This record gives sequence, C-alpha cells and structure tokens, in this order.
Amino acid sequence: MTAASQPTQRRVSTRLASITESATLAVDAKAKALAAAGRPVIGFGAGEPDFPTPDYVVEAAVVAARDPRWHRYTPAGGLPELRQAIAAKTLRDSGLAVDPSQVLVTNGGKQALFNAFAALLDPGDEVLLPSPYWTTYPESIRLAGGEPVVVPTDESTGYLVPIDRLEAARTPATKALVFVSPSNPTGAVYPPEQVEAIGRWAVDRGLWVVTDEIYEHLVYGDARFSSMPTLVPELADRCVVVNGVAKTYAMTGWRVGWLIGPPDVVKAATNLQSHSTSNVANVSQVAALAAVSGDLSAVGVMRQAFDRRRLAMVDMLNAVPGFSCPEPLGAFYCYPAVHGALDRDIRGRTPTTSAELAALILDEVEVAVVPGEAFGTPGYLRLSYALGDTDLVEGVGRIQRLLSEE
Ligand SMILES: Cc1ncc(COP(=O)(O)O)c(C=O)c1O
Repeated sequence: MTAASQPTQRRVSTRLASITESATLAVDAKAKALAAAGRPVIGFGAGEPDFPTPDYVVEAAVVAARDPRWHRYTPAGGLPELRQAIAAKTLRDSGLAVDPSQVLVTNGGKQALFNAFAALLDPGDEVLLPSPYWTTYPESIRLAGGEPVVVPTDESTGYLVPIDRLEAARTPATKALVFVSPSNPTGAVYPPEQVEAIGRWAVDRGLWVVTDEIYEHLVYGDARFSSMPTLVPELADRCVVVNGVAKTYAMTGWRVGWLIGPPDVVKAATNLQSHSTSNVANVSQVAALAAVSGDLSAVGVMRQAFDRRRLAMVDMLNAVPGFSCPEPLGAFYCYPAVHGALDRDIRGRTPTTSAELAALILDEVEVAVVPGEAFGTPGYLRLSYALGDTDLVEGVGRIQRLLSEE
C-alpha cells in the first residue's frame, strides 16, 4: 500500500495536535520581533526577571566550560554535588529535610512538571487545577494521559481556592492537586493556615500534591512563603515539589530546575529523563550549584525593585477605566479583571474578549500583554512587572490613555 492510499492516517499525532503553543512565549516573541523591527513596543508578556544572572554564577560557568571534566555525559539525575546542594537549600529555605537521592535535576521547572505528571498519571486520572492557572499545567497533565479538572477562583477570594470548591470538584478518579503559591499568573500567596488546611485535606483524601515553589523568594509586604510538605509532613509520601533557579537567580535561559519527591516517583522520573534528555547541560548545572550554594542577596535586590514596581503598577492599573486589580503579594505579575473595558468602542473596534482587547492594545499602542484566555480565565490580562520602571510607567500609561479616550 502506498502512502497516498492511506488518506486517513494523521501526519501529526492526535496527542500533539491538541497542544497549543505557549501563549506567554508567543506574546513575548511577537513583542521582541516588533522591537527588533524598530517599533517602540513595550512588552509585559515575559515571565522572567530583567536582571542579569549574578556575576559569581556566570564566573562558575565560565570556569566549568573550560574544564574537560564537564565536556562529557554525567548522571541523568543530576550532578551529585548539585543534588546535595539542592537538598541543603531546601532545608534552609523551606525547612524541609530531604535526601539528595530524592532530588532530580531537570531542564527547568517545566521539565520537572512534565516528568512529575508522567510519573504519576495513568489515562483517565484527574488532576485538580485551580484557575487562573499557568498555561503549561493543563498541557503537561494531558500529555501524560491525565485530565485537568479546572477549579475556578476569582479576584473576590484573592484568587485563592477554598477547600469546599476543591472538594466539590473531587471524584473517585481524582489523583492529584496542582498547588502553586506564589502564583503565576495572579501573584496570589496563600497564608500558611490555608496551605496547611489544603495539605491536610489532600492527606485525608489520599490525594497527591504537585506543589510548584518556583517563586518562593518573591513575596512582598506581610506575605510569607510556606512549603506545604513542611507544614504537613504526612504529605511527604504523596508530594512532588517543583522548583528551579530561573526566577530566584535571574537564570531563565540556563534551564535548570528540579523536582523533589518520594523515592519511587523520583526513580521513575529519572528513568524517563535518562531516555529523553539525559543530564542537564553540565555548565548550567555548575552555575546552578554556585547559585543555590550562595546567599540570597541577589534575589533580595531584585525583590526590592519588583516590590516598588508592583505598587506602581497596581495603582496605575486600577486607574484604567474598566480595570480592577487586586494587589499581588508574590511573583512578578499583576492580573487585572478587565470585563469593564470590553464591549465598547475603542478607536472603531469593539473588543468582546480579553484576547481581542490584548490584540487591540498591541495594534494601537504597541504594548504587549497576555490575555486571560491563556490561563483559563477569559476577562483578565496578565502584565509582568519584571521590566524597567520607565518602561512600566510608559506602557501602562499608554493603556490608560487608550482606554480613557471618549
Ligand atoms: C509557575 C511556574 N512554574 C514553573 C515555571 C518554569 O520555569 P523554568 O522552566 O524556566 O524553570 C514557570 C516559568 O514561567 C512558572 O511561572
């Protein structure tokens, strides 16, 4: 039989055909392309610090690149000294004692999530996913054969999910809960009592928790980060912690993250990684080793700048007609509700969705923002405040002026 006589055969698998491009990366790429073409575009799309990686981290990588020892394959699970340092850092920052063998070093937090869901989920397993959610969770759950079950939250509860809503979404097929605090895209930070209550609920129901702690050091005001398995030690046997160096050390491009979990899950995920990507680039691992073994002064400097920009941005967004923005307490995003800015004429166009509004803002005033559709909640926009103060004021100012036009 010739290929031409098999018209029903798909070229791209059903599994991958259903995956969409990361909307946040797409917005960022569009803004960067416009800027490269000389347009005065201001991008609020990126989920990355605008600071360079600290010098001592870069220096460690330069030295490593020259050392032939790092020019070869290394263990798939990560450099032993890095796994050790991650275990020590986890005890220092989260109060969670783990053995280095429970750490798997991955290509960023993203691969940690893909590995975790691949290790945990069978076809049909349901995963509770509070929304607004970061755009990669549903795709990584689905690719592993699982079914994301969205549990909506909104600004009325500060984007925190009440336990009764989790309980209402639970079925006999529920295997796990995704928990992320501080949150991307909302900047919400759960108070410790609520982290503990959700952890206890998961233990009582026999559920797994995949908890994403990548923004642990970016909290503001009175907000405090708390790690669920530290507050609920009984959860340790059913908990996977995801983390990485990207946000804390301005290292998004180096691609180093990790997962921490019970030995059987870490072993399964390591086996998968041994076939998919092998070890993370050694130079990056040595850089990550310098980062996590060092102090937290670099993130302290970034946090101060983000805090200042956060307060400026939230004030400016609340002054945009039709926007309503709760104060974010963590990460580096504002997540205003924009329902009040829809369904009215703006320069001859009438956006009816946040996706249309984001497109209009980009076309008319060259400001890139990510629509809430990317996070499972139409009617919102995400703006990162990890960009320079002047650009921030200019960019939100352009939106303000556009939406104030009669
Ligand atoms: C909530 C959350 N988790 C994980 C990641 C993954 O980060 P990386 O793969 O760069 O380590 C991100 C990046 O935007 C994120 O926002």
